[in-house]
Amino acid sequence: MNILVTGAHGQLGSELNTMIDGIFTDVDELDITNSEMLSGFVERHTITHIINCAAYTQVDNAEREKEQAFFINRDAVKNLANVARMHNIRLVHISTDFVFNGSKNTPYTEDDMPDPISAYGASKYEGERAIVTSDIDYAIVRTSWLYSTYGNNFVKTIARLAKEKKSLRVVYDQVGTPTYASDLAQVLSKIVGDSSLKGVYHYSNEGVASWYDFAKAIVDIMGIACTIEPVVSSDYPALAKRPPYSVMDKSKIKKQLGISVPYWRDSLHQCLNRLHNG
Ligand SMILES: NC(=O)c1ccc[n+]([C@@H]2O[C@H](COP(=O)([O-])OP(=O)(O)OC[C@H]3O[C@@H](n4cnc5c(N)ncnc54)[C@H](OP(=O)(O)O)[C@@H]3O)[C@@H](O)[C@H]2O)c1
Repeated sequence: MNILVTGAHGQLGSELNTMIDGIFTDVDELDITNSEMLSGFVERHTITHIINCAAYTQVDNAEREKEQAFFINRDAVKNLANVARMHNIRLVHISTDFVFNGSKNTPYTEDDMPDPISAYGASKYEGERAIVTSDIDYAIVRTSWLYSTYGNNFVKTIARLAKEKKSLRVVYDQVGTPTYASDLAQVLSKIVGDSSLKGVYHYSNEGVASWYDFAKAIVDIMGIACTIEPVVSSDYPALAKRPPYSVMDKSKIKKQLGISVPYWRDSLHQCLNRLHNG
Protein backbone atom coordinates (compact mmCIF):
# COMPACT_ATOMS: atom_id res chain seq x y z
CA MET A 1 0.00 0.00 0.00
CA ASN A 2 1.16 3.49 -0.79
CA ILE A 3 -1.24 5.70 1.12
CA LEU A 4 -1.82 9.41 0.50
CA VAL A 5 -3.43 11.30 3.39
CA THR A 6 -4.87 14.70 2.42
CA GLY A 7 -5.72 17.47 4.91
CA ALA A 8 -2.98 16.00 7.11
CA HIS A 9 -2.53 19.07 9.33
CA GLY A 10 -6.12 18.84 10.62
CA GLN A 11 -7.25 16.96 13.72
CA LEU A 12 -7.86 13.62 12.06
CA GLY A 13 -4.90 13.78 9.67
CA SER A 14 -2.58 14.56 12.58
CA GLU A 15 -3.85 11.55 14.54
CA LEU A 16 -3.41 9.29 11.50
CA ASN A 17 0.14 10.56 11.13
CA THR A 18 0.99 8.95 14.48
CA MET A 19 -0.39 5.57 13.38
CA ILE A 20 0.19 4.69 9.76
CA ASP A 21 2.91 5.02 7.15
CA GLY A 22 1.96 7.17 4.21
CA ILE A 23 2.48 10.43 2.41
CA PHE A 24 0.89 13.17 4.48
CA THR A 25 -0.02 16.40 2.69
CA ASP A 26 -2.08 19.51 3.38
CA VAL A 27 -3.28 22.37 1.20
CA ASP A 28 0.12 24.10 1.01
CA GLU A 29 1.67 21.04 -0.66
CA LEU A 30 -1.32 19.40 -2.31
CA ASP A 31 -4.50 21.41 -2.85
CA ILE A 32 -7.19 18.85 -3.68
CA THR A 33 -9.27 21.48 -5.50
CA ASN A 34 -6.53 21.50 -8.15
CA SER A 35 -7.22 18.41 -10.28
CA GLU A 36 -4.04 18.64 -12.36
CA MET A 37 -1.85 18.97 -9.30
CA LEU A 38 -3.66 16.05 -7.69
CA SER A 39 -3.33 13.82 -10.72
CA GLY A 40 0.38 14.64 -11.13
CA PHE A 41 1.05 13.99 -7.45
CA VAL A 42 -0.71 10.63 -7.47
CA GLU A 43 1.20 9.49 -10.57
CA ARG A 44 4.55 10.68 -9.31
CA HIS A 45 4.15 8.88 -6.00
CA THR A 46 2.36 5.78 -7.40
CA ILE A 47 -0.42 6.16 -4.83
CA THR A 48 -2.61 3.07 -4.30
CA HIS A 49 -4.85 4.34 -1.46
CA ILE A 50 -6.14 7.78 -0.43
CA ILE A 51 -7.58 8.80 2.95
CA ASN A 52 -9.22 12.17 2.48
CA CYS A 53 -9.13 14.15 5.72
CA ALA A 54 -9.22 17.49 3.88
CA ALA A 55 -12.42 19.47 4.22
CA TYR A 56 -14.00 22.84 4.77
CA THR A 57 -15.15 22.27 8.37
CA GLN A 58 -16.35 25.65 9.65
CA VAL A 59 -20.06 25.01 9.98
CA ASP A 60 -21.24 28.58 10.59
CA ASN A 61 -18.87 30.25 8.12
CA ALA A 62 -20.08 27.83 5.44
CA GLU A 63 -23.42 29.70 5.43
CA ARG A 64 -21.54 32.85 4.32
CA GLU A 65 -18.94 31.08 2.18
CA LYS A 66 -21.12 28.50 0.44
CA GLU A 67 -19.07 28.53 -2.76
CA GLN A 68 -15.85 27.80 -0.93
CA ALA A 69 -17.48 25.05 1.18
CA PHE A 70 -18.87 23.33 -1.94
CA PHE A 71 -15.58 23.84 -3.80
CA ILE A 72 -13.68 21.87 -1.15
CA ASN A 73 -16.34 19.45 0.12
CA ARG A 74 -17.94 18.59 -3.24
CA ASP A 75 -15.83 19.66 -6.23
CA ALA A 76 -12.49 18.60 -4.75
CA VAL A 77 -14.00 15.26 -3.72
CA LYS A 78 -15.08 14.80 -7.36
CA ASN A 79 -11.41 15.35 -8.27
CA LEU A 80 -10.40 12.65 -5.81
CA ALA A 81 -12.99 10.24 -7.20
CA ASN A 82 -11.81 10.94 -10.78
CA VAL A 83 -8.17 10.38 -9.92
CA ALA A 84 -9.12 7.22 -8.00
CA ARG A 85 -10.96 5.89 -11.07
CA MET A 86 -8.11 6.72 -13.44
CA HIS A 87 -5.45 5.11 -11.27
CA ASN A 88 -7.43 2.30 -9.65
CA ILE A 89 -7.01 3.80 -6.18
CA ARG A 90 -9.05 2.86 -3.11
CA LEU A 91 -10.57 6.03 -1.60
CA VAL A 92 -11.49 6.36 2.06
CA HIS A 93 -13.45 9.55 2.67
CA ILE A 94 -14.77 11.14 5.86
CA SER A 95 -18.27 12.58 6.09
CA THR A 96 -20.53 13.82 8.85
CA ASP A 97 -23.67 13.31 10.95
CA PHE A 98 -24.68 16.77 9.66
CA VAL A 99 -25.93 15.12 6.45
CA PHE A 100 -29.06 14.28 8.51
CA ASN A 101 -31.82 16.69 9.51
CA GLY A 102 -31.97 15.38 13.08
CA SER A 103 -35.71 14.78 13.19
CA LYS A 104 -35.35 11.11 14.26
CA ASN A 105 -35.14 10.06 17.87
CA THR A 106 -33.48 6.69 17.33
CA PRO A 107 -29.91 6.27 16.03
CA TYR A 108 -29.35 6.98 12.33
CA THR A 109 -28.32 3.99 10.24
CA GLU A 110 -26.48 4.03 6.91
CA ASP A 111 -29.85 3.33 5.23
CA ASP A 112 -31.47 6.50 6.55
CA MET A 113 -31.97 9.19 3.94
CA PRO A 114 -29.75 12.26 4.35
CA ASP A 115 -31.49 15.62 4.38
CA PRO A 116 -28.93 18.27 5.33
CA ILE A 117 -30.18 21.49 6.95
CA SER A 118 -26.98 23.54 6.64
CA ALA A 119 -24.63 24.55 3.81
CA TYR A 120 -21.84 22.51 5.42
CA GLY A 121 -24.07 19.42 5.66
CA ALA A 122 -25.25 19.87 2.07
CA SER A 123 -21.69 20.29 0.77
CA LYS A 124 -20.56 17.14 2.58
CA TYR A 125 -23.53 15.17 1.26
CA GLU A 126 -22.76 16.28 -2.30
CA GLY A 127 -19.19 15.09 -1.72
CA GLU A 128 -20.54 11.69 -0.71
CA ARG A 129 -22.70 11.58 -3.86
CA ALA A 130 -19.67 12.36 -6.03
CA ILE A 131 -18.01 9.21 -4.69
CA VAL A 132 -21.03 6.91 -4.55
CA THR A 133 -21.85 7.62 -8.22
CA SER A 134 -18.26 7.23 -9.43
CA ASP A 135 -17.80 3.46 -9.71
CA ILE A 136 -14.61 3.25 -7.66
CA ASP A 137 -13.42 1.19 -4.68
CA TYR A 138 -14.44 3.39 -1.75
CA ALA A 139 -15.49 3.57 1.89
CA ILE A 140 -17.18 6.67 3.30
CA VAL A 141 -17.06 6.98 7.08
CA ARG A 142 -19.50 9.41 8.67
CA THR A 143 -18.44 10.67 12.07
CA SER A 144 -19.60 13.27 14.59
CA TRP A 145 -18.38 15.87 17.10
CA LEU A 146 -14.69 15.22 16.43
CA TYR A 147 -12.06 16.36 18.93
CA SER A 148 -8.38 15.70 19.45
CA THR A 149 -5.27 17.04 21.13
CA TYR A 150 -4.53 18.60 17.71
CA GLY A 151 -6.23 21.61 16.17
CA ASN A 152 -9.13 23.62 17.53
CA ASN A 153 -12.17 21.86 18.89
CA PHE A 154 -14.89 21.94 21.55
CA VAL A 155 -12.79 20.14 24.18
CA LYS A 156 -9.91 22.57 23.94
CA THR A 157 -12.24 25.59 23.82
CA ILE A 158 -14.21 24.53 26.92
CA ALA A 159 -11.00 23.58 28.76
CA ARG A 160 -9.60 27.05 28.09
CA LEU A 161 -12.80 29.03 28.81
CA ALA A 162 -13.55 27.06 31.98
CA LYS A 163 -10.24 28.21 33.45
CA GLU A 164 -11.06 31.85 32.63
CA LYS A 165 -14.75 32.06 33.59
CA LYS A 166 -16.92 31.14 36.58
CA SER A 167 -19.74 29.78 34.40
CA LEU A 168 -20.40 28.81 30.81
CA ARG A 169 -23.73 28.45 28.99
CA VAL A 170 -23.93 25.38 26.76
CA VAL A 171 -26.88 24.02 24.76
CA TYR A 172 -28.59 20.85 25.93
CA ASP A 173 -31.14 20.47 23.10
CA GLN A 174 -28.64 19.11 20.55
CA VAL A 175 -27.85 15.47 21.17
CA GLY A 176 -25.21 13.33 19.48
CA THR A 177 -21.96 11.52 20.28
CA PRO A 178 -18.48 12.96 20.70
CA THR A 179 -15.70 11.16 18.83
CA TYR A 180 -12.04 11.14 19.78
CA ALA A 181 -10.16 11.52 16.48
CA SER A 182 -7.55 9.06 17.72
CA ASP A 183 -10.21 6.31 17.96
CA LEU A 184 -11.49 7.15 14.48
CA ALA A 185 -7.94 7.15 13.09
CA GLN A 186 -7.41 3.62 14.43
CA VAL A 187 -10.55 2.46 12.68
CA LEU A 188 -9.51 4.17 9.43
CA SER A 189 -6.14 2.44 9.59
CA LYS A 190 -8.04 -0.88 9.51
CA ILE A 191 -10.52 0.17 6.83
CA VAL A 192 -8.01 1.54 4.36
CA GLY A 193 -6.38 -1.78 3.52
CA ASP A 194 -9.53 -3.90 3.68
CA SER A 195 -11.26 -3.80 0.32
CA SER A 196 -14.08 -6.00 1.63
CA LEU A 197 -15.30 -2.84 3.40
CA LYS A 198 -17.22 -0.94 0.77
CA GLY A 199 -19.92 1.72 0.98
CA VAL A 200 -21.02 4.01 3.78
CA TYR A 201 -20.24 3.43 7.48
CA HIS A 202 -21.08 5.26 10.68
CA TYR A 203 -18.45 5.70 13.37
CA SER A 204 -18.51 7.78 16.55
CA ASN A 205 -17.65 6.89 20.12
CA GLU A 206 -20.23 4.87 22.05
CA GLY A 207 -23.06 6.51 24.00
CA VAL A 208 -25.09 9.69 23.77
CA ALA A 209 -24.59 13.24 25.06
CA SER A 210 -25.79 16.79 24.66
CA TRP A 211 -23.20 19.54 24.21
CA TYR A 212 -24.06 20.44 27.83
CA ASP A 213 -23.19 16.90 29.02
CA PHE A 214 -20.00 17.01 26.96
CA ALA A 215 -18.91 20.35 28.49
CA LYS A 216 -19.85 19.16 31.99
CA ALA A 217 -17.74 16.02 31.55
CA ILE A 218 -14.76 18.12 30.41
CA VAL A 219 -14.79 20.39 33.48
CA ASP A 220 -15.54 17.48 35.86
CA ILE A 221 -12.67 15.36 34.56
CA MET A 222 -10.33 18.36 34.68
CA GLY A 223 -11.52 19.21 38.20
CA ILE A 224 -12.27 22.84 37.31
CA ALA A 225 -14.79 24.73 39.45
CA CYS A 226 -16.70 26.24 36.54
CA THR A 227 -20.49 25.95 36.44
CA ILE A 228 -21.94 24.71 33.17
CA GLU A 229 -25.42 26.14 32.62
CA PRO A 230 -27.81 24.37 30.27
CA VAL A 231 -29.43 26.62 27.64
CA VAL A 232 -31.53 26.00 24.54
CA SER A 233 -30.28 26.61 21.01
CA SER A 234 -32.74 29.46 20.48
CA ASP A 235 -30.91 31.34 23.28
CA TYR A 236 -27.71 30.89 21.32
CA PRO A 237 -28.41 31.97 17.74
CA ALA A 238 -25.88 30.59 15.27
CA LEU A 239 -25.63 31.12 11.51
CA ALA A 240 -26.03 27.42 10.66
CA LYS A 241 -28.85 25.15 11.76
CA ARG A 242 -27.70 21.96 13.44
CA PRO A 243 -29.52 18.64 13.71
CA PRO A 244 -31.15 18.40 17.17
CA TYR A 245 -30.48 14.65 17.22
CA SER A 246 -27.60 13.05 15.32
CA VAL A 247 -26.71 9.87 17.18
CA MET A 248 -25.46 7.27 14.70
CA ASP A 249 -25.94 3.50 14.74
CA LYS A 250 -22.53 1.82 14.51
CA SER A 251 -23.64 -1.82 14.24
CA LYS A 252 -22.45 -2.17 10.64
CA ILE A 253 -18.83 -1.14 11.24
CA LYS A 254 -18.65 -3.02 14.56
CA LYS A 255 -19.83 -6.21 12.90
CA GLN A 256 -17.74 -5.95 9.75
CA LEU A 257 -14.52 -4.99 11.54
CA GLY A 258 -15.20 -7.11 14.62
CA ILE A 259 -14.43 -4.18 16.92
CA SER A 260 -15.91 -2.71 20.05
CA VAL A 261 -16.16 1.06 20.29
CA PRO A 262 -14.85 3.03 23.29
CA TYR A 263 -17.42 4.90 25.42
CA TRP A 264 -17.20 8.65 24.76
CA ARG A 265 -16.37 9.60 28.37
CA ASP A 266 -13.51 7.08 28.54
CA SER A 267 -12.01 8.47 25.34
CA LEU A 268 -12.48 12.03 26.60
CA HIS A 269 -10.49 11.03 29.70
CA GLN A 270 -7.66 9.78 27.49
CA CYS A 271 -7.57 12.93 25.40
CA LEU A 272 -7.59 15.21 28.45
CA ASN A 273 -4.79 13.15 30.01
CA ARG A 274 -2.73 13.59 26.86
CA LEU A 275 -3.44 17.33 26.80
CA HIS A 276 -2.49 17.60 30.47
CA ASN A 277 0.73 15.64 30.05
CA GLY A 278 1.70 17.65 26.97
N1 LIG B 1 -14.60 18.46 13.22
C1 LIG B 1 -15.76 17.83 13.42
O1 LIG B 1 -16.44 18.02 14.45
C2 LIG B 1 -16.26 16.85 12.39
C3 LIG B 1 -17.48 16.20 12.63
C4 LIG B 1 -17.93 15.28 11.66
C5 LIG B 1 -17.19 15.04 10.53
N2 LIG B 1 -16.03 15.69 10.33
C6 LIG B 1 -15.26 15.41 9.10
O2 LIG B 1 -14.06 14.77 9.49
C7 LIG B 1 -13.02 15.11 8.57
C8 LIG B 1 -11.80 15.59 9.31
O3 LIG B 1 -12.17 16.71 10.11
P1 LIG B 1 -11.12 17.53 10.99
O4 LIG B 1 -11.85 18.02 12.19
O5 LIG B 1 -9.86 16.76 11.14
O6 LIG B 1 -10.89 18.78 10.02
P2 LIG B 1 -9.84 19.96 10.16
O7 LIG B 1 -9.12 19.88 11.47
O8 LIG B 1 -10.57 21.22 9.80
O9 LIG B 1 -8.78 19.59 9.03
C9 LIG B 1 -9.06 19.71 7.67
C10 LIG B 1 -7.74 19.99 6.97
O10 LIG B 1 -7.99 20.05 5.56
C11 LIG B 1 -7.25 21.14 5.06
N3 LIG B 1 -7.76 21.60 3.79
C12 LIG B 1 -8.73 22.51 3.54
N4 LIG B 1 -8.87 22.71 2.22
C13 LIG B 1 -7.98 21.90 1.60
C14 LIG B 1 -7.62 21.68 0.25
N5 LIG B 1 -8.24 22.34 -0.73
N6 LIG B 1 -6.66 20.78 -0.03
C15 LIG B 1 -6.02 20.11 0.96
N7 LIG B 1 -6.30 20.30 2.28
C16 LIG B 1 -7.26 21.18 2.60
C17 LIG B 1 -7.37 22.18 6.16
O11 LIG B 1 -6.44 23.23 5.99
P3 LIG B 1 -6.85 24.70 6.54
O12 LIG B 1 -7.01 24.57 8.02
O13 LIG B 1 -5.69 25.53 6.11
O14 LIG B 1 -8.14 25.07 5.85
C18 LIG B 1 -7.13 21.34 7.39
O15 LIG B 1 -5.74 21.17 7.67
C19 LIG B 1 -13.63 16.13 7.61
O16 LIG B 1 -14.06 15.47 6.45
C20 LIG B 1 -14.83 16.66 8.36
O17 LIG B 1 -15.85 17.12 7.49
C21 LIG B 1 -15.53 16.59 11.24
